[in-house]
Amino acid sequence: MSLLSGQLPEGSFHVPVMVEEVLAKLVRGTESAILDCTVGEGGHALRILERSKCFLVGIDKDDQALELARKRLMPYVGRFFLTKADFRDARAVLALVGIPRVDGVLFDLGVSLRQLTDPSRGFTYWGDAPLDMRMDKTGPVTAADLLETSGEEELERILREYGEERYARSIAHLIVTERERRPLRTARDLVELIYRAIPARARRMGGHPARRTFQALRIAVNRELDGLDRAIEMAFYLTKPGGRVVVLSYHSLEDRVAKSVFRRMEAARIASILERKPLTPTKAERERNPRSRSAKLRAAALI
Ligand SMILES: C[S@@+](CC[C@H](N)C(=O)[O-])C[C@H]1O[C@@H](n2cnc3c(N)ncnc32)[C@H](O)[C@@H]1O
Repeated sequence: MSLLSGQLPEGSFHVPVMVEEVLAKLVRGTESAILDCTVGEGGHALRILERSKCFLVGIDKDDQALELARKRLMPYVGRFFLTKADFRDARAVLALVGIPRVDGVLFDLGVSLRQLTDPSRGFTYWGDAPLDMRMDKTGPVTAADLLETSGEEELERILREYGEERYARSIAHLIVTERERRPLRTARDLVELIYRAIPARARRMGGHPARRTFQALRIAVNRELDGLDRAIEMAFYLTKPGGRVVVLSYHSLEDRVAKSVFRRMEAARIASILERKPLTPTKAERERNPRSRSAKLRAAALI
């Protein structure tokens, strides 16, 4: 069964992406503290703690992920601090642990495989999963709420801007018409509607026809792009000279933000970019872990 259509097997974890490339940029053997802004299930964090003698501060807004990370990092107890927070508040988290500046910051953006595939989290477009999509289950707005309350123009903007969906207008129009008759509550409700809204030939191209709409809703529900540039920029001010900032992104909207912050930091002589072109996973990794296919890694060193 494809991992994208099924749940992660019991006892297994999200598979971290481009681990060796991340370690090569982030860990130099002399660091005393590293900040993992998206610790998730601790995949990268575990390897950082194995490779370096540093103290690791890990942030995530998903309680379930943090619980799994805590278990996974147990062999290194005493060398890490994990907390539920938004990475936009990274400065306050570091102040709390009394580490004003770190030697490296990692962002592994987006969602984890568990978030994406566990039907109860509502990110998947398979079956009758509820349209939830919140990374933070205590967050105020679900995808179903957005579909119910947003105006047609707003829905069209979300689909176009965050999903780069060509058929944003017709999908938004059908959502608004259809919700008058019945609420859109499950993945199946929305997927069926998308099939009706787009031309037959488009249904056969570019992967699952609902992929772009689901990406767009997920980004809107979690406000993934709001303040992302400030958060990445802040990482540079939280890092010591010689330290590293590493960003892994999975779609062009995130990568565009990372690229422009990195360029700005270089122009201001705050950091130098380590690779002109972002690194991408090896063929072997792409085959082993298809989710890694879209990954782009950018890294910079503080001056
Ligand atoms: C790709 S996963 C990280 C996986 C992790 N590197 C690992 O190896 O297990 C991305 C994680 O970032 C978290 N996340 C996304 N946006 C966030 C934000 N603004 N603040 C805190 N965590 C965030 C998600 O909840 C998710 O767990």
